[in-house]
Amino acid sequence: MKKAEIILEDKTYEMPVIVGTMNEKAFDISTLRKDSGYITLDQGYQNTGSCISKITYIDGEKGILRYRGIPIEELAIKSSFSETAYLLIYGKLPTAEELHTFSVKLTENAMLHEDMLNFLRSYPIHSHPMAILSSMVNTLSIFYPEEFSMDSDEGSVAFDLTAARLLSKIRTIAAFSYKKSIGEPFIYPEPDLKYAANFLNMMFNSPTKKYNLDPDIVKTLNKMLIIHGDHEQNCSTSTVRLVGSSKVNLYSSICAGICALWGPLHGGANQGVIEMLEDIIKNHKNIKGFIEKVKDKKSRTLLMGFGHRVYKTYDPRAKILKEDCMNILNKFHIKDPLLDLALELEEIALKDDYFLSRNLYPNVDFYSGILYRALGIPTNMFTVMFAIGRLPGWIAHWKEMHDTVPFRIGRPRQIYMGEPLLHYTPMNNRK
Ligand code: SDX
Repeated sequence: MKKAEIILEDKTYEMPVIVGTMNEKAFDISTLRKDSGYITLDQGYQNTGSCISKITYIDGEKGILRYRGIPIEELAIKSSFSETAYLLIYGKLPTAEELHTFSVKLTENAMLHEDMLNFLRSYPIHSHPMAILSSMVNTLSIFYPEEFSMDSDEGSVAFDLTAARLLSKIRTIAAFSYKKSIGEPFIYPEPDLKYAANFLNMMFNSPTKKYNLDPDIVKTLNKMLIIHGDHEQNCSTSTVRLVGSSKVNLYSSICAGICALWGPLHGGANQGVIEMLEDIIKNHKNIKGFIEKVKDKKSRTLLMGFGHRVYKTYDPRAKILKEDCMNILNKFHIKDPLLDLALELEEIALKDDYFLSRNLYPNVDFYSGILYRALGIPTNMFTVMFAIGRLPGWIAHWKEMHDTVPFRIGRPRQIYMGEPLLHYTPMNNRK
């Protein structure tokens, strides 16, 4: 085992070097503070690994993304979302029998407890669907309060049921929140529809207008959910791991992940991209002026959907989504000015040194919103769609963490830069 040496105050400390399957390297600082009294500082964890994982591999320089070793380009074309969810959570592609059992479990758990609908109906009409989703997912812990420990047979049976409940009910909650927002009756899940088709049916079918389940639309939604499936230690997945490390239940850990994903720097960017594109169109499509504003730091304007902490090249998911945007809009003869604008923005940015010198390329969020629009999904539900896709990844990481021995609660350290010792001052002595 190779070692890294750190010399602190003339003393040398050795740390074991860890080399990953794809030759990623780290040195393990688990004993650093005990041995030397030092900790490390790494704002935003740009250089810090929080765990060892077997779920997803990303090569940010080469634009590679693999789930359990399988490239997403293959899964996006050949797999289904349920099958990919199984792969992420259980670590292997399911046999026909395993997939059937998993799908039956998803079907059986698609309904919400009728009492949960009282909560849904009581949210104000303008409620953001991500606020509803996080609240309703945490409410599942009220309706299914059974605790389980992962190191027992009953525990793994209970985990399987909890995972199936989450994967299936998140879809129903999302669709019901949309129906509520447009004042239409809830369309209940259909037992003979598969995952993506069931969601589309709950979203767009209505008592007065039959929704036609177009196979290309169903296939596109499957693909979109698959490519959002997991992305190693991103902000929301790290949140699920950290919250889950206190041994709180899976529903509440996932609720925390949904809240983290909502942020505009993370999963909320897909909604942010559409709002940005609409703003540019409102301002007479002054693309040049917008790009100049982005490059002027004082404006604090971001080119939403561009840049990534890990990808320093084109996000492989953005490539897939860009192609699907063209295909679906062509197939349904949709002329979306936002797509034309997005393509123009990408072309201009990728010739501009500000973006190239900072390795800023389109990420998963740059084209996903345009595709969701083409599927008829409203802008404020784009991040909900991201959450539905990312759920299997969150569950997989929560399970992997609980299966890791020793199990440790996450608790980072800090460097204190506040006041030295002070004493309480009576009111009349204060300034
Ligand atoms: C997701 O982590 C994941 O894996 C996330 C995700 C997943 O699947 O889970 O891939 C999903 O969240 C994708 C990212 C969605 N967010 C956006 O599209 C919002 C816009 N992007 C930026 O906010 C930013 O690029 C981040 C948040 C995505 C990454 O931020 P970093 O890694 O902290 O990069 P940085 O802020 O240090 O940027 C480096 C430089 C800075 O300029 P300088 O200080 O060097 O002069 O690039 C600039 C930044 O100002 N920059 C941008 C920019 N992104 C970075 N400038 C303009 N527009 C942008 N979008």
